Amino acid sequence: MATKTLDDLFYETLKDIYYAERQILKALPKMARAAQDEKLKAAFQDHKDETEGQIERLKQVFELIGKRARGKTCDAIEGIISEGEEIMEEFKDTPALDAGLLAAAQAVEHYEISRYGTLCSWAQQLGLKDAVKLLEETLAEESKTDEKLTGLAKTAVNSAAQKAA
Ligand SMILES: [Fe+2]
Ligand SMILES: [Fe+2]
Repeated sequence: MATKTLDDLFYETLKDIYYAERQILKALPKMARAAQDEKLKAAFQDHKDETEGQIERLKQVFELIGKRARGKTCDAIEGIISEGEEIMEEFKDTPALDAGLLAAAQAVEHYEISRYGTLCSWAQQLGLKDAVKLLEETLAEESKTDEKLTGLAKTAVNSAAQKAA
């Protein structure tokens, strides 16, 4: 059996998140269209723009390790996104839709935070300083988005969901 090391893990996980980001890029406009609350809509749209930049950063990281940018099917993100789609269908035209969408979006952010956190520490371990910087930038955006969503849930979205239509 060939020896696999942290370099291999790093590369495999980079492919995983690259795939995930591209799926997220496709899902966010749908979520923005579905959201009823204007601030939630805007948050999804803004994060779609950020996601484009994050994909560019990932391409740079692939370049730094001398590999071609490519994705590897990530079952976790597929599952999280399809749960979001289920909510869009099942809660369509109901006051609870936004709260469901917001929760689905936070599940996505938490997945990303977990992945980027791991990639940052592996890049550090591997001495990939430039990669650490790029990955940390994205990690900060994901965390900020997560906090923004928590704020929206607390101030508007959850209480709106509690009211009858
Ligand atoms: Fe992202
Ligand atoms: Fe994100």
